[in-house]
Amino acid sequence: MLFLGIESSCDDTCAAVLDDRGVVRSSVVSSQVRLHAPYGGVVPEIAARHHLEAIGPVVAQALADAGAGLDAIGGIAVTRGPGLIGSLLVGLSYARGLALRRGLPVVGVNHLEGHIASGWLECPALPYPALALVVSGGHTALWRVAAPGSYVEAARTRDDAAGEAFDKVAKMLGLAYPGGPVIDRLAERGNPLAVAFGEVRTKGEAAFSFSGYKTAARVHAERLGIRPLDHPDDPPCSDLLDLVAAFRYAVVRELVRRTRQAIESERPRALVLAGGVAANRLLRAEITRLADERGLALSIPPPRYCADNAAMILKAGLPRLLDGADELETLDATAYLPLGGPESAHRSRRHR
Ligand code: KG4
Ligand code: ZN
Repeated sequence: MLFLGIESSCDDTCAAVLDDRGVVRSSVVSSQVRLHAPYGGVVPEIAARHHLEAIGPVVAQALADAGAGLDAIGGIAVTRGPGLIGSLLVGLSYARGLALRRGLPVVGVNHLEGHIASGWLECPALPYPALALVVSGGHTALWRVAAPGSYVEAARTRDDAAGEAFDKVAKMLGLAYPGGPVIDRLAERGNPLAVAFGEVRTKGEAAFSFSGYKTAARVHAERLGIRPLDHPDDPPCSDLLDLVAAFRYAVVRELVRRTRQAIESERPRALVLAGGVAANRLLRAEITRLADERGLALSIPPPRYCADNAAMILKAGLPRLLDGADELETLDATAYLPLGGPESAHRSRRHR
């Protein structure tokens, strides 16, 4: 039996097919990065319009790549929040329509649960309890995962998400959009110790904070006389390379410091690093080192499963589909959707 996953919470239209053991048969992502680049960020109306055009072909491609027709599909998992409401509604309405027409069960998945579940896509035997660091453009948090479907937040950012901080600093320096991968690449050529970024103090709170680093980057740029590039392809000066290297170093240090603290208090058996920022080379290296140091099992999904995709959404929803859940009558898109506590208990209940 095969299952279909659909994700459209932000600016990527995604569909995937998994089998009943959770093995990925296909995963298709239609990226809108080019459409939003001129604006330096995601424009919700453009995103929703593109999802509308892309959703049919993306689902068809996922089925074709899996060598399957709709007849082979036994159920659908779709992202129901959090995200841009116009974007979410496109994927959700498509999934509900398909479920209704084909008489298939459908379940809604929290996007963050999807990012966490990506850790088990290629490492299905990763032990529990695990600690999952989810770092993306919209979210930065640490989750304690006691079992599939059981999530407790151990720390979250009290201001910007890490990816958002990367993107804003890149924009300030005139670098291309999205800025995270560009800073990551340029940072390899700079000296991270050439500019000092102090450590953040969060008064004993179990929280990340990144907005101070953003301000510090601006202050350092002014002090060093670094002007934004006139064009993203212009060659950067060595001061700019040093500045982005130091900024990347500071953000990664903050992520690793909180993760180390959470390992002390939560005593997990495994560590997961997920979300778009998990593509960052320094972060991957430092988290790998931390897991080695603590003797923890580690899963860092390949970049195609770290960034938004539908395979992770279906991986998260699959246990409920296999359990016979069907949320066709109640499923709705929600822009703000917490994960953990009573919410996940409610959602894991059977709806049939
Ligand atoms: O998970 P994702 O694809 O979308 C959501 O935000 O849900 O994450 C995108 C974020 C962007 O902020 C992007 O700049 C950042 O991930 N990113 C990176 C890298 N690759 C992507 N940040 C730092 N280093 C990277 N290599
Ligand atoms: Zn995401």
